[in-house]
Amino acid sequence: MQTIRSVSELRRVVADVRKSHKRIGFVPTMGCLHDGHLALVEASLANCDVTIVSIFVNPTQFAPNEDFGAYPRDFVRDEKLCRAAGVAIVFAPEAKEVYPAQFETIIEPGELANTLCGAFRPGHFRGVATVVCKLFNMVQPDAAYFGQKDFQQCAVVRRMAIDLNLPIEIAIVPTVREVDGLAMSSRNRYLSLEERRRSLAISRGLFAATEEFRSGERDPKRLIGIAKKHLETVDRLQYLELVDTTTLKPAESPLERSAALCVAAYVGSTRLIDNVILSLPAS
Ligand code: PAF
Repeated sequence: MQTIRSVSELRRVVADVRKSHKRIGFVPTMGCLHDGHLALVEASLANCDVTIVSIFVNPTQFAPNEDFGAYPRDFVRDEKLCRAAGVAIVFAPEAKEVYPAQFETIIEPGELANTLCGAFRPGHFRGVATVVCKLFNMVQPDAAYFGQKDFQQCAVVRRMAIDLNLPIEIAIVPTVREVDGLAMSSRNRYLSLEERRRSLAISRGLFAATEEFRSGERDPKRLIGIAKKHLETVDRLQYLELVDTTTLKPAESPLERSAALCVAAYVGSTRLIDNVILSLPAS
């Protein structure tokens, strides 16, 4: 496995890989890797010849009051995990490699970025779309792998790839959960034991709504209500919404198309997000 720090070195190595017509799979991350990231790596390894993982805590997707400074970083462990998993290249650039002096060009996503998390984190998806687009240009992958836990991020990136004619397959990998149901996230590290226990309300609420949906419930208000009952132990519910999986607009009643039940909640000072897809055959 190679660790590469500069864009020029990455380009040289990627050009060699391309000459041999190998399929490149790309897993963009902000490091502090967990089994959710490793599931993305596995999906890439299964479908591509060469897997590249980027590790870059992207400053432009954090607001000034958010946790950019505190975001967990453990590069030595991340490198070990990547090597053991079979990753070919770890790309870990410095911020100045990604954002050169006088940088001023951005990718501005549209409506998809304004709901759910976007309504509470203005500018977040601009930062995500911009860095993902830049990383795509640096890595030039054939396929890129994203986790369903960041459901809105997946929708924004998929839209960007279509809108900008990026020749990259965007693959979404199901959320990986701890045995008790908590969605894996680098931010779970912030939780105290007591908060960790209370955070289970989130997945329990989503699973309870899924059960009702499987039993035939199709009323969005009732499905949201069922999840909400479980969410009483979180400290602050930021949003709990049932949205169309493509447009991210509120799901119509009764449900006739697949919808995603999405939640963001604070437990202590930690903001957690999660979602489940309620699947219906396309009509
Ligand atoms: O999902 C993440 O870790 C980040 O948003 C991403 C896609 C690596 C962009 O910084």
